[in-house]
Amino acid sequence: MFDVSKIRQDFPILSREVNGKPLVYFDNAATSQTPVQVIQTIVDYYSRYNANIHRGVHTLSQEATDAYEKARGIIQKQFNAQHPHEVILTSGTTHGINIVAAGYATLLKAGDELLVSAMEHHSNIVPWQMLCEKTGALLKVIPMNTQGVLQMDVFETLLSSKTKLIFVNHVSNALGTINPIRQIIEKAHAVGAHVLIDGAQSTPHLKTDVQALDVDFFVTSAHKLCGPTGVGMLYGKSELLNALPPYQGGGEMIAEVTFEKTTYADLPHKFEAGTPNIAGGIAFGAALEYINQIGLENIAAYENELLEYATEQLGTIPGLQIYGQAAEKIAVISFNVDGIHPYDIGSILDKLGIAVRTGHHCAQPIMDFYKIPGTVRASFAFYNTREEIDLLVAGVKRALSMLQ
Ligand code: ALA
Repeated sequence: MFDVSKIRQDFPILSREVNGKPLVYFDNAATSQTPVQVIQTIVDYYSRYNANIHRGVHTLSQEATDAYEKARGIIQKQFNAQHPHEVILTSGTTHGINIVAAGYATLLKAGDELLVSAMEHHSNIVPWQMLCEKTGALLKVIPMNTQGVLQMDVFETLLSSKTKLIFVNHVSNALGTINPIRQIIEKAHAVGAHVLIDGAQSTPHLKTDVQALDVDFFVTSAHKLCGPTGVGMLYGKSELLNALPPYQGGGEMIAEVTFEKTTYADLPHKFEAGTPNIAGGIAFGAALEYINQIGLENIAAYENELLEYATEQLGTIPGLQIYGQAAEKIAVISFNVDGIHPYDIGSILDKLGIAVRTGHHCAQPIMDFYKIPGTVRASFAFYNTREEIDLLVAGVKRALSMLQ
């Protein structure tokens, strides 16, 4: 049974006040909140077995290594990777994308083509632009329509034997659109291209099976999934990860080092130079266990109800326009109200204890497409309530009465 009031008790932050009002946290697409079960995992690690991993013969190091590798196994299972070594623990989605983009610098040549969707976060644009500068490859854009839906017919015309890599988010952080990634992957493979999916915004809401999708690379961050910041996952098919050179050199990523020649460790260590975020990795596993105990299907069903309710209620406000009207979307509402700067609405909402994100959401090309400076974005999680949406709607009305 999905019991939101019980769930809310797991999140200590939800009972705090902001500016003298109960916190209403609607910035979940930026980062989700952390349940006590995950916080306790971090406290336990630092209180009982803080040690470096993969290095020591001593008991603490072995306990820490076991817990870290257990978390890798939980992550593998969550996304159904075939092998644990296909799960590279990173500092987050951006890090994962940069590992792949840097690696392809040695595999591409001038004239190769890369396709990016029009609704990407900067982290899934800039690393590829840097790659194009290094290699002479060409970046082409899969356009979207005004509903915030990718134009799949144009996508098909962009595909050719020159296409080497395609990168698309599963869900847009700024619009909430769920992209047809299965179809994109199939069409890409038909021309021999590889696909990287940015799952930062989808994994908190939708189940992902990397083998069923046959995706080549998949990235996400723990902090969108009730885990801590500074840790994430890069999944890659073994043969593709093996073909990529390491991104960083250092300890733990080597097989043997001499001054004449160094050989690299096997996966996953080849991409995990230096001491990782050990507590973060362990807590990533705990966060997935927490989410699974509630059930992603239950989460998605509840969040969809919130989305429907909020869309309907915000829709009653004259002059309010929602960006991102895809039939398939997650619980994110990006909006503006005629002539009012999003920052002004966001600032007044904050005074009322309501946290939303305002601005371009690290997706400036989307804002350019709509010819707007930014939006107000309310993004919901399974611990939010209809009553909180009522407060948001009342807050926006209040802001408008002050600004219009
Ligand atoms: N990518 C995060 C967001 O959409 C930070 O807010």
